[in-house]
Amino acid sequence: VSLAGRNTFRVAARAAMMADVSRADALGELFEFAMLREGPVLVLGEGSNLLFVGDFPGVAICLTMAGASIVRDDGDSAVVRAEAGMNWNDLVAWTLARGLCGLENMALIPGTVGAAPIQNIGAYGAEVGEFVEAVEAFQRDTGQVKRLPAADCGFAYRDSLFKREPERWVVTALELRLPRQRALRLDYAGVREELAAMGIDTPRAVHVAEAISRIRTRKLPNPALLGNAGSFFKNPVVDAGTAAALKADHPALPVFAGPDGGHKLSAAWLIEACGWKGKREGDAGVAEQHALVLVNHGNATGQQLLELARRIAGSVRERFGVSLEPEPRIIGARFDPA
Ligand code: EPU
Repeated sequence: VSLAGRNTFRVAARAAMMADVSRADALGELFEFAMLREGPVLVLGEGSNLLFVGDFPGVAICLTMAGASIVRDDGDSAVVRAEAGMNWNDLVAWTLARGLCGLENMALIPGTVGAAPIQNIGAYGAEVGEFVEAVEAFQRDTGQVKRLPAADCGFAYRDSLFKREPERWVVTALELRLPRQRALRLDYAGVREELAAMGIDTPRAVHVAEAISRIRTRKLPNPALLGNAGSFFKNPVVDAGTAAALKADHPALPVFAGPDGGHKLSAAWLIEACGWKGKREGDAGVAEQHALVLVNHGNATGQQLLELARRIAGSVRERFGVSLEPEPRIIGARFDPA
């Protein structure tokens, strides 16, 4: 089965088999098949956070259930349950249309609802993990769908239990607790300016979603036009001493407060400083608008994109002594900087 149309990098790759699943309770039976019981399984959402380096030897599973509903309403907030196959941005719009806020800063992030908790998607000062009430996931070793409260999901910066144990879980639904009122988060660079440009002086959550959608549309290449998987690297988190030393040598380097008191460096800045922005090697390249985004100009293979990423990480390490880790899941290879 070809996966070329099922990954936003649009690299050619194949899976041995593919199964569409429209009900979480069918997974138990599906996993009785020998090929799924023992072999490798890949849950495919919209393929917006994957790099295929070669073919996938097992079964690709696509979850197609895509409903959303309010399962509990406490007045000030409500719990929304959405199924894994729903498009993430559709859920953002669905919640905003019902007067629920929280997801506005994560408007227009590509991918499905089921993928959102796996890498704890985030943007413009918000992360999905903050709003998760629970994740429902099929657990391969028990054959049961389990409801994991947020505290059991191990959320961290672009990380979770599900990302650390990808062969063990199939996320089937997400429960989010969303407030009706909350202080909007406008501090991320560019958000206030965009709202001002839109002529909005007293923004509501829908306006923030609109402003962020406009910024993203401008800054990130559209995967429908140019293959890419968003940020290819995580922003590296370093200790205070390392951050201070780098900042002393490179005053323009953006440094943000990171998780657990760490300091998060802008990977895009480090990559741009090494001269990679807009560079192209064959059909594998670095986006012109954003140094953190690798792009496929046409017929790049996963291997070529991976090699480019390794060279980028190698030059950042050599020049700044900082290691970059890839952010998308890489299928069929390990990532080691050149
Ligand atoms: N910058 C550069 N060169 C560039 C682009 C940006 O020097 O080519 C600098 C800018 O000066 C800016 C800083 O980098 O101050 C941060 O840039 P940006 O606001 O674009 O955010 P980012 O840190 O590069 C992260 C997320 C994005 C998310 C944005 C906005 C990660 C790995 N990436 O990128 O998420 O949309 O913040 O919140 O955390 C994704 O995960 O796929 C993704 C796109």
